[in-house]
Amino acid sequence: MNSDRVEPKARTWRRRSGKYAVALATSSFILAACGSSASSSSSSSATTSASSSTQTITWWSSPLGAGAADIRSNLISAFEKVYPNIKVNLVSAPTNTDTNRAQLTTQISGGSTSPDVFMGDVIWPAQFGAHGLALPLSKYLPSSYWSQFAPGLVQGATYKGQVYGSPMFEDQGFLFYRKDLLQAANLPVPTTWQQLEQEAVQLVKAGKVQNGFVWEGNSYEGLTCNFMEYLGSAGGNVVNSAYTQSTINSAAGQKALSFMRSLITSGASPASVTTMQEPQAESTFVAGNAAFLRNWSYAWSDSQTSAGSAVVGKVGVTTLPTFAGQSGTGYANIGGWNLYVNPHSTHLNADLTFIKWMAGTTAQTMLADHSFIPTLQSVRQQFAASTTAPPPLQIAAKENLIPRPSGSPNYAAVSQAIYTNVNSALTGSSSVSAALSSAASQMNSALGGGL
Ligand code: GLC
Repeated sequence: MNSDRVEPKARTWRRRSGKYAVALATSSFILAACGSSASSSSSSSATTSASSSTQTITWWSSPLGAGAADIRSNLISAFEKVYPNIKVNLVSAPTNTDTNRAQLTTQISGGSTSPDVFMGDVIWPAQFGAHGLALPLSKYLPSSYWSQFAPGLVQGATYKGQVYGSPMFEDQGFLFYRKDLLQAANLPVPTTWQQLEQEAVQLVKAGKVQNGFVWEGNSYEGLTCNFMEYLGSAGGNVVNSAYTQSTINSAAGQKALSFMRSLITSGASPASVTTMQEPQAESTFVAGNAAFLRNWSYAWSDSQTSAGSAVVGKVGVTTLPTFAGQSGTGYANIGGWNLYVNPHSTHLNADLTFIKWMAGTTAQTMLADHSFIPTLQSVRQQFAASTTAPPPLQIAAKENLIPRPSGSPNYAAVSQAIYTNVNSALTGSSSVSAALSSAASQMNSALGGGL
C-alpha cells in the first residue's frame, strides 16, 4: 500500500552514481540533525589524563580478517611504535553485530570504564547517541578532522548534530564468483539475479560444485543487509522518507522476498543458507564449496590470503546483479565500522590519539591492503585508481548503494522486524505475503511515528 510513496525515490537512486547515492541516502540523518537543537552540555564522565606516563587503553574490536589474516595485532604494533607511551589491549568482540552491540550496551550502560575505544557498526550512532553509550566526538575533534573522510560517512555517524563515530572502514556488498567454474561451463559473469540463479542451479546439477550461491540468510542484522539489496533492485525500500511508515509490504517487497525464497527452492542456494552469517558463507566459498558468494569487500583478501583457501587465483568479483529488465548494476547495502569512545573512559587523550591514528594514512593503507574500503578519502582514491589494488576497492564507486534506515534510535527493533520475518519466509515457515504483512506491522510499532 505504501509502494507508490517510495518508488520515485528508488528510481532516482538508480540513475545516480554510488557516491551521490551515499550523500542522498544519508540525508535523513541531516534532517534528524536539523530537527532538534544539538545538545551543548556533555553528560560524559570521560576525563583526560596526563599524556607523559604510559597508559593502557582497551580496544574492543571484532576480527579484521579471517584466522591468521587478521590484521588487528599488526595495527596495534604499528600504532605502539609511533606512540610508545600508549599500550593497546585488544578485546576480541563477537563477529555478529547484534551480539556485539548487546554485550557493549550492557557493559557501558552499567558504567564500565572498559573498553575505552570500541569498533562499532555504522548503524549504531542514533541508538548510542540517544542513550549516552558513546561520546560525541565532534566536541573533541575539529571540523578539519571530519572533512578528510569520503562523502556521506560523517553524516552517517551523526545524530542530532553530533558525530559519534570516527569512520574506520566502509562495507559494501559484492558478488564473488569462481572464474574457473564459469569458464569451464562457458557461462558469463551474471548481471541479473535471475541469471545468477540459473547458473548456480546448472553448476550444482552438473555436479561441478557442492553449492551454488551462498549469502547471509540467518535471522540477524546481516539478513536485513541482504534483503535491502534485492529490494533496492526491485525498486523498493523499507520505510517512507519521513521514517513514519513501513513500505516493505509492497509489490517490490513481494518481488524481492519471493526471489530470495526461490533461490532456496530452486536449489541455487542450499537450505543451510538460512543459518549462515558472514563467516559461514565466506568459509564455504573459500573452501571451494560454492560457485558464488555475496559478502563484503574483505572476503576478497580472506579468499586470496588465508592459509586454508582452496580458491586462490580462482576468484572474480563484480557489482551485485539487478533484476532482469533493470538497467545498470544492482544495489549494494552500505555497512562499515566506526571507532567510538566509551563515555566512562578515563583515558580520553589516549583514546583520541588512537582514533586519529586509525584514520591516518598508515592504518587506512593497512586496511585497504586487506581489501577493507578505506574511509580516508585520499587513500580511498589512491586505491580506487590503482590497477593492482584489491579488486573490490577498484569497483566500489561503481555500485549503486542503498542504506538501512538506521537514523532512528530504535533501529535495532526495526531491523529485527525485517530479518525475523524475512528469515521465516526463507525457511518456508511463513508465506511471503504473511511475512511481509507481519514485518510491516512490527516495523510500524518500532518506528513509533518517526524519528
Ligand atoms: C558488516 C557491516 C555492518 C553490518 C553487518 C551485518 O559487518 O559492515 O554494517 O551491520 O555486516 O552482518
